[in-house]
Amino acid sequence: MTRKVLVTGGAGFIGSHVVDAYLAAGDDVTVLDDLSTGKREQVPPGARLVQADVRSPAARELLATGDFTLLNHHAAQMDVRRSVADPVFDAEVNVLGLLNLLEGARLGGVQRVVFASSGGTVYGETARLPLVESAPKLPASPYGTAKLASEYYLATFSQLYGLETVALRYSNVYGPRQNPHGEAGVVAIFAHRVLAGQPLTVFGDGGQTRDMVFVQDVVEANLAASHVALPSADGVDGRAFNIGTGIETSVNDLAATLVTIGGRRVEIRHAAERPGELRRNALAVDKAAQGLGWRALVPVGDGLRRTLQSFREG
Ligand SMILES: NC(=O)c1ccc[n+]([C@@H]2O[C@H](COP(=O)([O-])OP(=O)(O)OC[C@H]3O[C@@H](n4cnc5c(N)ncnc54)[C@H](O)[C@@H]3O)[C@@H](O)[C@H]2O)c1
Repeated sequence: MTRKVLVTGGAGFIGSHVVDAYLAAGDDVTVLDDLSTGKREQVPPGARLVQADVRSPAARELLATGDFTLLNHHAAQMDVRRSVADPVFDAEVNVLGLLNLLEGARLGGVQRVVFASSGGTVYGETARLPLVESAPKLPASPYGTAKLASEYYLATFSQLYGLETVALRYSNVYGPRQNPHGEAGVVAIFAHRVLAGQPLTVFGDGGQTRDMVFVQDVVEANLAASHVALPSADGVDGRAFNIGTGIETSVNDLAATLVTIGGRRVEIRHAAERPGELRRNALAVDKAAQGLGWRALVPVGDGLRRTLQSFREG
């Protein structure tokens, strides 16, 4: 049966890949995006674009009257540093925007909400690696706090109205279409500089690690989260799944691998460490394997090669 799906942020990096996958699965897809960082040309042909802000009455109306069965929420203010500089704006988009959509979803009889949360920011620095879903939460940024607050609102709406909700706590996602101009997305930034023959800047000693997950793997997690039977949730972590590889890759390794794949002589420079940056991160992924039947399949070398190739082709 054709599902009617609304993907917010579907003109952005991850959301546009998710839209591709829903279309390929035969779903009827509408994208809601204000095009603040997303691009119109990234909305796949076959999907309808509604250009609106998640905070707007128009967004709520669309959900209340659109007959959607599934809401996949990827739109966000996703700049961690901006959230520190302007936490009110961050919460307006990321918390009040979500609430606005949930009100529409409730009125419109949406069955399930899949939410893009953040395994890189909700836990904080103290817990042991790899981080399990139940690890202590201590976000170091308003962005992380807003993601966690969103998960709580989803759980509350689930209790109040029977909405099925799933939070996917992504690690560091990379791949084709990632925007190299923001401060997120070290792979996109490095890959573009390698192709342009420009030096790479590594902040600090480069030994800081990230759990790098390829966007196609993230898409598969979204598809699974959209249809699997959900376990009866036990608290907010019960409805959350880490989406990562469980493997730590250092920023030095990322830089060196991209330079090698790029086949160009590019200098790697070091600059002062950035305050507030996480030293290490890796997510435990067993829960997603059990609950979603999902595991990341793309090794980082392959993913980096595919990313560089896509940027080369423009
Ligand atoms: N990229 C990562 O590594 C990563 C990691 C964890 C979580 N996430 C989450 O995944 C989601 C997608 O991230 P992305 O990397 O694709 O970023 P992106 O910036 O490419 O996509 C975000 C999209 O949301 C849209 N948007 C922003 N504010 C909006 C608003 N007020 N109303 C309507 N649309 C709005 C933008 O135009 C853009 O198309 C975000 O929720 C982000 O927090 C991303």
